[in-house]
Amino acid sequence: MPRVDDPGRAGMLRADLVDHLQRTGAIRDERIAEAFRVVPRHLFLPQMPLTAAYADDVVLMKRDDAGVPISSVSQPSMIALMLDQAAVRPGDHILEIGSGGYNAALLTELTGPTGSVTTVDIDPDVTTRARAALTRAGYPNVHVVQADAEYGVPQHAPYDRVVVTVTAWDIPPAWVDQLRPTGRIVVPLRLGGETRSIAFDDHHGHLESHSSILCGFVDIQGQGAHHAPDVPPPNAPIPHPTFQAHRTGTPLPAGFHIARKHYTFTVCRVGGVGF
Ligand SMILES: C[S@@+](CC[C@H](N)C(=O)[O-])C[C@H]1O[C@@H](n2cnc3c(N)ncnc32)[C@H](O)[C@@H]1O
Repeated sequence: MPRVDDPGRAGMLRADLVDHLQRTGAIRDERIAEAFRVVPRHLFLPQMPLTAAYADDVVLMKRDDAGVPISSVSQPSMIALMLDQAAVRPGDHILEIGSGGYNAALLTELTGPTGSVTTVDIDPDVTTRARAALTRAGYPNVHVVQADAEYGVPQHAPYDRVVVTVTAWDIPPAWVDQLRPTGRIVVPLRLGGETRSIAFDDHHGHLESHSSILCGFVDIQGQGAHHAPDVPPPNAPIPHPTFQAHRTGTPLPAGFHIARKHYTFTVCRVGGVGF
């Protein structure tokens, strides 16, 4: 029987996890599968038994004083789907918002030695833990930054991809300003009563969604935190919505718009017809 920390057993559990993620359709790209096969998730979850570290489950790491979850190591299937949305290429420069270390290590595998990964978290406990785990796991070159991501991380910009792993209520201008013109933002947005991970590309000055997936993440803290009730959704559910995001104040045709401080989000049916 292998020991609990046996690296051979961890490798087998990782292979099983990848098989599961491929079977369920969360992983469709062999490069993402290979990244999951090599990153030792158990080193980012040293408190967990090895089998639990390789289950397809989110692991809660911290609650606030009221008991509300504020930090976790994300569920592998959700991470895989968002990596697919991000379509990271070798050599890309990435900003990850919300740290933990595991996803930053996967992103490092995808960018390769010519790219870079910066991960930012508002919570110093999280950045200290992420930095230590990344070093332990063999990813000491990830830039781990403790800051409110409302302002991005200008010192390592511009980025080809901004991957947000916390539920946002808006898109702070810094995320777009620090993105290359051909870049992509993948962000879980709370819009109309649902949270969707939306991949946005720049399209002549506004953002157009490339894909969207229902998801759940802890809420953003800091300047971007929201304390207002959500806008009610349109009467009929929209089966496969697409989204546009324009800077708030831009004149828009009538439709189902959700205006936030920085961006106004338009919910469209596939084909771009607004509500
Ligand atoms: C779901 S966890 C991140 C999971 C992580 N990416 C992983 O590899 O598993 C979300 C993180 O977002 C952080 N966060 C919340 N608001 C933030 C903000 N304004 N700026 C930066 N980080 C923030 C939380 O402290 C929390 O650690």
